[in-house]
Amino acid sequence: MSSNVEMLRRLKAVECRDSTYWPKENPTVFQKAKGSLVWDVEGREYIDLCAGFGALPLGHASDALRDVTAEFASERPMVEHAMGDVYPSEEKILFLETLKSMLPSSYALGALALSGGQAVEIALKTAMLATKRSGFIVFDGAYHGLDLGVLALTSREDFRAPFASWLAESNVIRLPFGASKDQLKAAIGKLKPFGLAAIIVEPIQGRAGVNLPPPGWLESLATIAHENHGLLILDEIFTGFGRIGKISTASFVDADISCFGKSIGGGFPISACFAKRDVMSAWPESPGEALHTGTFFGHPFSAAVGRRTLLQIQSQELSARAETLGNKAKQQLSDALRGHPMVIDIRGEGLFLGIEFSKAGFAAKIMDDIRPKGVIVLPSGNTGSVLSMTPALNISDELFGEALNRIIGCIVKGTMS
Ligand SMILES: Cc1ncc(COP(=O)(O)O)c(C=O)c1O
Repeated sequence: MSSNVEMLRRLKAVECRDSTYWPKENPTVFQKAKGSLVWDVEGREYIDLCAGFGALPLGHASDALRDVTAEFASERPMVEHAMGDVYPSEEKILFLETLKSMLPSSYALGALALSGGQAVEIALKTAMLATKRSGFIVFDGAYHGLDLGVLALTSREDFRAPFASWLAESNVIRLPFGASKDQLKAAIGKLKPFGLAAIIVEPIQGRAGVNLPPPGWLESLATIAHENHGLLILDEIFTGFGRIGKISTASFVDADISCFGKSIGGGFPISACFAKRDVMSAWPESPGEALHTGTFFGHPFSAAVGRRTLLQIQSQELSARAETLGNKAKQQLSDALRGHPMVIDIRGEGLFLGIEFSKAGFAAKIMDDIRPKGVIVLPSGNTGSVLSMTPALNISDELFGEALNRIIGCIVKGTMS
């Protein structure tokens, strides 16, 4: 049996050093997983409260998805690659139809990609084509991916700085999350000569530390964007398809474009940008060579797994479950940690939860302290002061409750030592 340290050493020998975090103590290399449990290469068991950065709504190795592999292997040997922008696969069509059927009726047409960042790239191009403008308003704390196009929108200075000379930063104005109408209007004025193409916003900021917008603010962004002949883009990559107790925030906010990723592939790489018909129709008819495509866009196997995932989210009513379980978790955490000197806030919606601490880096310390006790969580926020929890939407009550008890114990003990 290999040890975790040995495996990480082997990784270090072959991978760019920026790619994988190596904790000082108790490093972990995953080997196998089932549902919300993961085992490392030394056979240690962990309760997974991250679910692949939120990409596993049904947990690991879901039986519902395992059937897809069996089906393809036995009954209907699958097309492995269908050259999606020339010869579409049946699975790509079925996936797009299912996705659309679950979205608000305002969304008529979509385009597929592989990652969240790529879906946002499509949204930006769509907004530019539809408005014939190229100015964007974004918000402090925003995370829209790290590809070179979307990097200009992402808030974190340390991610942008090494590449700043390449980025379209002059097309972007950054405002506080929750900016007032006056701030927004002034910023739109300053976007000349580009003009407002779109305001882009996450319904709840994830990487910034589970930041909820002020009530009614998202609705007001739509109004302001439309009054100024621009669009509202919702980046629902993290929040969409059940995570925050709803399928799409566009059911409540008059957005023009939404981006989806993570959950919709059930762990496989697929993402989508959906828009209102007139907005998406700004793209020209493909003359045989698509203006925007990628070798693996609409990959048949990802589409097949993705469609089964969407149907499970729907039939198991996992959005509603996320809301109920999330409320219960917030109660459990509040009951145990209310008044704790280090805990500033316990917040979130559905199974998108955060505990904010008063000390920078404290959530990162809890992440490392709780790992040997068998729980996987992540820090978030610019200073690592928020502990994020995004478990599978079908995690059992018992397992989630047990993981939360271990976290509570670790916080109480961590602040005493
Ligand atoms: C809101 C949001 N947008 C975009 C992205 C980028 O997605 P990906 O990492 O799949 O490119 C993320 C990733 O965490 C995200 O949370």
